[in-house]
Amino acid sequence: MKILTVVGARPQFIKAAPVGRALRQAGGDEFMVHTGQHYDHGMSQVFFDELGIPAPQVNLEIGSGHHGWQTGKMLEGIEAILLREKPDWVLVYGDTNSTMAGALAAAKLQIPLAHVEAGLRSYNREMPEEHNRVLTDHCADLLFCPTETAAANLRKEGITQGVHQVGDPMYDAVLQFSEAAEKKSTILQALGLTPKQYSLATLHRPANVDDEAILREILAAFEQSGEKIIFPVHPRTRHSIDRFGIELASAPNIHPIAPLGYLDMLALEKNARVILTDSGGMQKEAYFFQVPCITLREETEWVETLEDGANVLTGADRERILAEFSADKHVSRWADHFGDGHAAETIADLLSRYL
Ligand code: UD1
Ligand code: UDP
Repeated sequence: MKILTVVGARPQFIKAAPVGRALRQAGGDEFMVHTGQHYDHGMSQVFFDELGIPAPQVNLEIGSGHHGWQTGKMLEGIEAILLREKPDWVLVYGDTNSTMAGALAAAKLQIPLAHVEAGLRSYNREMPEEHNRVLTDHCADLLFCPTETAAANLRKEGITQGVHQVGDPMYDAVLQFSEAAEKKSTILQALGLTPKQYSLATLHRPANVDDEAILREILAAFEQSGEKIIFPVHPRTRHSIDRFGIELASAPNIHPIAPLGYLDMLALEKNARVILTDSGGMQKEAYFFQVPCITLREETEWVETLEDGANVLTGADRERILAEFSADKHVSRWADHFGDGHAAETIADLLSRYL
């Protein structure tokens, strides 16, 4: 069984690690195409090194640009490789432009397409990811849903064939790499942190960081909270901070740092008092570690975390963020919404069975 995997952005490397391992164990032959959507060492190579992901066979090195340009270049590049490699499956992850380019390339050549993290919806079409997800799901032959909600979302759109609720490979990854994070990460010592006496924040959604007033509002909430906040800054956000001339140095409780590798990130997440984020992956990881999460958005795809009271939505509203910060936060309910930590093996098994 030959699987051509398309990845390109940070969260996809993390999801592809346990799945690639399971594919190898099942005797599958994986050919990996990296689109080059993320390319800084700290946004790409560090994950291949830390998670033991074999080097991609091809890196298209597309880089950053407008969505249409970026997706078009990827589509062209992936199509040429598919024509040459003739895989049994194309495997895509999540909802980035790399996901959609892989999906379209496969669909146009009528190569079976499998989508990991199928069925997620925010029902907010202003998010670039929402188009990518909907289109990818409607092209896919096998749809691997992480949660029950995701499978229900697909049913509402009339997609019932090839749908499997398998759990979330991000949970597999956390289980597989937590011990390594504990042993190898020295980030708490390096930053002089005491467990549960700091919070952790990330931001990268265009709706939050591309608009100066909104970004300033969120950062003002961080500052006014008085809480020690460790803030690994995504490159999109770094560019905005520089472009808007925002001076983070004037807020001594905010500690901006470069994007982190996965092991350091797991160590920081596990020991944080609260996680503040607009990241999809971080909302789930907060849940896995039972760390209360404040989501700086008006909606989330991971509704189970809200229902369990582990996560709250505040949008970019300063008052709502501050109110949540000062609330007594603890996670009291926790369930296995995201599977049993063996999503990757189930995915590998289904890929070979459908073949
Ligand atoms: C992308 C995905 C988003 C995902 C996120 C994960 C799309 C539409 N968006 O958003 O769904 O949640 O990745 O992190 O696919 N940049 C660098 N170095 C890099 C990569 C990016 O400096 O290695 C800068 C560039 O200025 C670029 C900007 O970050 O223009 C945004 O990168 P891009 O990949 O377009 O989108 P993300 O915001 O990273
Ligand atoms: N992550 C990381 N270092 C960072 C920020 C995030 O390793 O500095 C990891 C995080 O633990 C999670 C994934 O990247 O596993 C989430 O990616 P991101 O927030 O970029 O994208 P999203 O999940 O929102 O698509």
